[in-house]
Amino acid sequence: MQNAVQPLPPSQKETAAALSALPLPALPLNDAYHLDENISVAEHLALIPLDDAATLRVKGKARQLIQTVRDNRRRFGGIDRFLNEFGLSTREGIALMCLAEALLRIPDSETADKMIRDKIGGAEWDKHLGKADSLFVNASTWALMLTGKVIADVEEEKSSSVSAIAGKLVSRMGEPVVRQAMLHAMKIMGQQFVMGRTIGEALIRAEDAEKTGSRHSYDMLGEGARTKADAERYFNAYDSAIHAIGKAAAGRGCIESPGISVKLSAIHPRYEYAKRETCVPELTEKLLQLAQKCAQYDIGLTVDAEEAHRLEISLEIIGAVLRHPSLKNWKGFGLAIQAYQKRCTRVIDILAALCAETGQRMMVRLVKGAYWDSEVKYAQVNGLPGYPVFTRKSATDVSYIANAAKLLARRDVFYPMFATHNAYTVAAIMEIAGADQTGFEFQRLHGMGEPLYHQIVGRGEGKYPCRVYAPVGSHQDLLPYLVRRLLENGANTNFVNRLQNDAVPIDEMLQDPAAHLRAQASKPHPKIALPADVFGAERQNSKGIEFANAAVSDKMLADIAAHAAKTWTATSIIGGDKRKGAAKDCFDPADNARKIGSVIFASKEDCALALHGTHEAFTAWNATPVDARADALVRMADLMEENMAELMALCVREAGKTLPDAIAEIREAVDFCRYYAAEGRKHFTPTALPGPTGESNTLQMEGRGVFLCISPWNFPLAIFIGQISAALMAGNTVIAKPAEQTCLIAARAVELLHQAGIPKNALCFLPASGEMTGQYLVPD
Ligand code: FAD
Ligand code: 2OP
Repeated sequence: MQNAVQPLPPSQKETAAALSALPLPALPLNDAYHLDENISVAEHLALIPLDDAATLRVKGKARQLIQTVRDNRRRFGGIDRFLNEFGLSTREGIALMCLAEALLRIPDSETADKMIRDKIGGAEWDKHLGKADSLFVNASTWALMLTGKVIADVEEEKSSSVSAIAGKLVSRMGEPVVRQAMLHAMKIMGQQFVMGRTIGEALIRAEDAEKTGSRHSYDMLGEGARTKADAERYFNAYDSAIHAIGKAAAGRGCIESPGISVKLSAIHPRYEYAKRETCVPELTEKLLQLAQKCAQYDIGLTVDAEEAHRLEISLEIIGAVLRHPSLKNWKGFGLAIQAYQKRCTRVIDILAALCAETGQRMMVRLVKGAYWDSEVKYAQVNGLPGYPVFTRKSATDVSYIANAAKLLARRDVFYPMFATHNAYTVAAIMEIAGADQTGFEFQRLHGMGEPLYHQIVGRGEGKYPCRVYAPVGSHQDLLPYLVRRLLENGANTNFVNRLQNDAVPIDEMLQDPAAHLRAQASKPHPKIALPADVFGAERQNSKGIEFANAAVSDKMLADIAAHAAKTWTATSIIGGDKRKGAAKDCFDPADNARKIGSVIFASKEDCALALHGTHEAFTAWNATPVDARADALVRMADLMEENMAELMALCVREAGKTLPDAIAEIREAVDFCRYYAAEGRKHFTPTALPGPTGESNTLQMEGRGVFLCISPWNFPLAIFIGQISAALMAGNTVIAKPAEQTCLIAARAVELLHQAGIPKNALCFLPASGEMTGQYLVPD
C-alpha cells in the first residue's frame, strides 16, 4: 500500500527491544493507597493549591463561562443537546445506548430487525419531540418516533403472535424501511463525533477552525484489535495519516501543528500484561516507527490512555520509545494520563524521572478518564480487592486539579494539555496558571465543549490555545468510541449534561469539589460497594486475581508452578476410606507425555458400598440443622480460595484450561457454595405457619435421599461442586461421580469438602467409568 511502513533497521530494532526491557518503578494496585480510598483522596486534597480567595475567583470565572454558554445555546446545537434530551435516566436514552452499541455491527438484517423491535417498542419517543430547539435533536427524534410509533401500534394487538406482529409491521412499513431509518438515526449521531471519514476530509474540515486558533489531534478510529490483520490495518491507517498531517503541518513545529493520537490497543492484538514479554518489545517497535515519522515532520504524537490494567505496560513501551536515541531532538512525544486513576500522581513522578534521565520534554494530556464504568464493572466481575479509580466524581475532579497544578509547576519538562469540557475545571486551571499563560494548552473532543471554548480560544491576553481531538474513520470503527461518549454525556453527573439542563441551577454547578469531598469525610461513594461486597449481606463475592498486578500475579504464578510440578492421585472415597485397586496413569491434555497423576477407577463393589453408605447416612444428614450444613459450604468456599494455586494448577494440567479460565472455574465453584448456603438458610430454615389455637404448624423442606451427581470434564470443578453443594444443602447425601477425564481435581475437591465439615458418609466419591455408572449406579 502507499506509504507502507518500512521495518526498523536491525540495529534500531535491537536498541528498541533492549530499551523496552528496562524496568520502570512499579505502580502497585494492592497497597493501602489503592485499597483505602480515604488515603488517596486525602493525599490529593493536600495537593490542591487553591485557597479560599482563589476558589472564589474560580467560581466567578466559571459562572461567567457557564452563563455565556447558556445565553448562546441557540448558536450551538448538536450532540450536547441531544444527549441531554436522551440521558441515561430515560428509557429512551437506554434504548438508544443499546442500539448504538449493537446496531451498526449486526451483520444480518433479520437480527438487526429483531434488535430494533426489542429496543424501540417500549419507549415514548414523542415526549421528546419539539422539546429541544435544535434541528439535530428533532430530526433524530422524528426518525426514532417514526419507527417507535409503528412498533407500538402493532404491539397493542396483544393476541397476535410475535411472527404476526412482525408480519404486520413489515406490511405497514416494510422492515427495510424501519431498519434504514434506525441506521440513519445512528449514523447522524455518529457523525457528530467524527471529523471525517478520511484524514483528507478531516484536514479540509479543520481549516476554518485553525484560522481562529484551534489546533487538532487526529485520532484514527480503531482499537482493541483482535487479529494481526486488524492491527496492521490500523497501523497503516496511522502511518498514512501521519504523512497527510505532516504535509499539512508544513513545518509549524509540534506545538502549533496538528498532531496524531494513537491507541496502542489498535496496533497489537494481544496488548495485555500476560503477554508482556512479546507485546512490550513488539509495540515499542511499532510505536517507535510511528514516532520517528512524526519526528521527521515535527508533529506531535500522543498515546491515548486506555484501561487501567494496561497502564504499567504502556509506560514500559512509552519509556522505551522516549529513551530511543533517534528521537533525541524531537519534543512532540506525549501521552494521556487519567486523573480518575488513583495512581495518576505517581505516573507524573515516573514521567518526570524519565524526562530527567533522557533530557527530553514530554507532551502530557491530562484527562479525567473515559473508561470509568468499565473499570468499576471489571473490578467487580473479576473480584478484585479494590478499584483502580475513584468512586466519587468530586474525587476525580480534585485529582484533576491537583495533578494539573503538578504539571503546570513542571513546565520545564512537560507541555501540559488539559482535556476537559468542565467550566469549573477550566477556570481552576486558569487560576493556577495565573498570568503565565504559556507552555500549555486546553483540549476538547470534536462535537463537544465548543460553546465553552468558543469563549477562550485564541491568541493574546485572556485567550488560550485549544486543540480538538478529532476522530477520523468510518462508522464500522466508531462503536466503542461512540459508546464511551454516550455513557459520558448521558450521565447526570456529567458537566456537559448539567450545562444543558436548565433545571440545574448555576450555583449547583459551582460546587467546589474539594469542599464536597471534605464534607463527605473523603469516604468512597456509599452506593459503590467494594467488589467483595457487591452481593450485599447475603454472600461474599469470590476473590479473583488481577494478572496485571505484578505483586499478586508473580507470587501466584510461582505457587501454581510449584503445584504443577507434583502429581496427584484419585480413588473412590467411601465413608472416608480411600479404596485400593489398580491405578491408571493420567496425562496432561496439552502434553500427552507429561504424567500428572493416577486414578483408581471404582469397582462394582465400590459402587455398592457407596450406594449403601449414602443411603444409611441420609437420615442424619437431613436432620442436621440448616445452619450447620450452610456453614460447611461456606467453609468449603473459603478453603477453595485458600487452595487457589493448587486448584488452578489442576485446572491447567488436567483440564487444559488457560489461567483466566482456571480462575473463572474456581470462582464459579466458590460462588456456588456461598450462593447455595445463602439460599439454603433462606428456604430450608423451618418456619411457623399460622393456625388455630392449640395447634402448631411448621413448614419444613426435606431432602429427597441419595443424589448421584455426574459432572462433565469441561467444568471439572464448577459444575462438579455446583451439583454437589446444591444437593447437600437441601439435605441429600451425595455420590459424586466426576468425568473420567478429570478425576484428580474432583478428588481434591472432595477432600476439601470433607475438611470443610461435610460428614464423610454423607458424601462419597466414585471415579467410576461410564459403563460402571450406567450398569450399577443409574439403575439404582
Ligand atoms: P466532567 O463531567 O467534569 O467529568 C466526567 C468524568 O468524571 C468522567 O468521564 C469520569 O472520568 C469521572 N467520573 C464520573 N463519575 C465518577 C465517579 N463516580 N467517580 C469517579 N470519577 C467519576 N479519556 C481517556 O480515558 N483516555 C484518553 O486518552 C482520552 N483522551 C481525551 C482527549 C481529549 C482531547 C479529551 C477532551 C478527552 C479525552 N478523554 C480521554 C476523555 C475524557 O476522559 C473525558 O472526556 C472526560 O473524563 C470528561 O471530563 P470532563 O472534565 O469533560 O467532564
Ligand atoms: C476515547 O477514545 C477520547 O481517547 C478517548 O474515549
